[in-house]
Amino acid sequence: MEPYRIKAVEPIPFLTPGQRAAGLAAAGYNLFRLDAAEVTIDLLTDSGTGAMSARQWSALMNGDESYAGARSYRRFEDAVRELTGHRHVLPVHQGRAAERILFQSLPVAGRVTLANGHFDTTIANVLLAGGDPVDLPGPEARDDAPHPFKGNLDLDRLAAHLAPGHPGPPAALVVLTVTDNAGGGHPVSPAHAREVAARARAAGVPFFLDAARFAENAHLVTRRDPAAAGRSAAEVARELFRLADGSWCSMKKDAFGNIGGFLTLQDDELAERCRNLLIATEGYTSYGGLSGRDLEALATGLAEATDPDYLADRESTTAWFARALQDAGVPVLTPPGCHAVYLDAAALLPHLPARSLPAVSLACELYRAGGVRCAEMGSLTFGRPDPAGGPDTPARRELLRLALPRRVYTRSHLEHVVRTAAAAAARADRLGGYRIVRQPPHLRHFSAVLAPETAA
Ligand SMILES: Cc1ncc(COP(=O)(O)O)c(C=O)c1O
Repeated sequence: MEPYRIKAVEPIPFLTPGQRAAGLAAAGYNLFRLDAAEVTIDLLTDSGTGAMSARQWSALMNGDESYAGARSYRRFEDAVRELTGHRHVLPVHQGRAAERILFQSLPVAGRVTLANGHFDTTIANVLLAGGDPVDLPGPEARDDAPHPFKGNLDLDRLAAHLAPGHPGPPAALVVLTVTDNAGGGHPVSPAHAREVAARARAAGVPFFLDAARFAENAHLVTRRDPAAAGRSAAEVARELFRLADGSWCSMKKDAFGNIGGFLTLQDDELAERCRNLLIATEGYTSYGGLSGRDLEALATGLAEATDPDYLADRESTTAWFARALQDAGVPVLTPPGCHAVYLDAAALLPHLPARSLPAVSLACELYRAGGVRCAEMGSLTFGRPDPAGGPDTPARRELLRLALPRRVYTRSHLEHVVRTAAAAAARADRLGGYRIVRQPPHLRHFSAVLAPETAA
């Protein structure tokens, strides 16, 4: 059962099928463009959407709003440093701010960044810094076998990129995203992270963690890695950070923040460059775009993130949800991680090629049928447009992510989602494709306008 009880509630909207169909058309068939008031169950993201604890709410009153050197920053800094062991702790308003500051402070232009899987904002910020993000997903991630650590990257391809005579552009950075949000929310194993760290160090390339879901990664390690049996998630997480030269973290996920993030660094000169950019664009070094009360809530949330009862419930709820969807005839990626279940839209809609955006089609149907909002993680989000105007390079997979906000929805809410997905699966062969009508140059999934390929 959930290891908490509910103290404050918020009504959820119920719309008629006609209202939903009209809302979807008005939103250009892009669920990001819907108003939240049009959504019954919102599984668009687990980012910033969690419920804060009573301790976090009460910590807000302790916020020290001093511009410089606030007590709340010291508490935040201590909490982040205890977790990461890194010398420099920069607060930022969210993960992508840390990405921008780091990539503009490192020599990224004309180089590649190598990762198990770059997330969407990471890709955009590497490109904006003049670099080329290269994903190296591991061989286990490519098949349907239930490998415990599908977040691991392909060590042979990493070695080839880092080899002295490699013909392509040099590497600016090696990144492990924990857990691998773009590929399925799969964890990375500690032994693998040690190997990646060693290879990056031998090649003289900095090794970073994108640590948005560090606690869920650590919990899954304690459950799936025999070498970690009996250890705590907090211990496993602390060891992982200590392998890296630095990290960035969106604290809107595991740290239960509605806003917030950090950038940590070991290198003094790099930290100096990042701090200068932080001051110019986010805020002074002791608040980085956050209020003192945010820093208090985040420091408290960071301590709650590795609570074993909470993490056990999080894992079992996601596993139950994935099984229920599978039993209802909906193909999902296995084994599920903690923050989301990923539906395999290509498997459910084999009649739709990548250019017809099968995961968009499924997303629109889940909204139309049950007011459920979720996020496309296929060729709309991860396909690469051709600068010369030719066809896009499609994404690796056509996935639909059903993200679970932390401590927000009960199992009966999720039962509604399972019934809705079962109804969509039952009419899968009748679902049509979508095309892009209008798109921005970066992060197009947030704001693109779409239309059905054939009139509904
Ligand atoms: C793995 C990963 N990295 C980076 C980010 C960006 O963080 P933010 O949304 O706080 O800017 C996200 C957000 O979803 C993420 O999941």
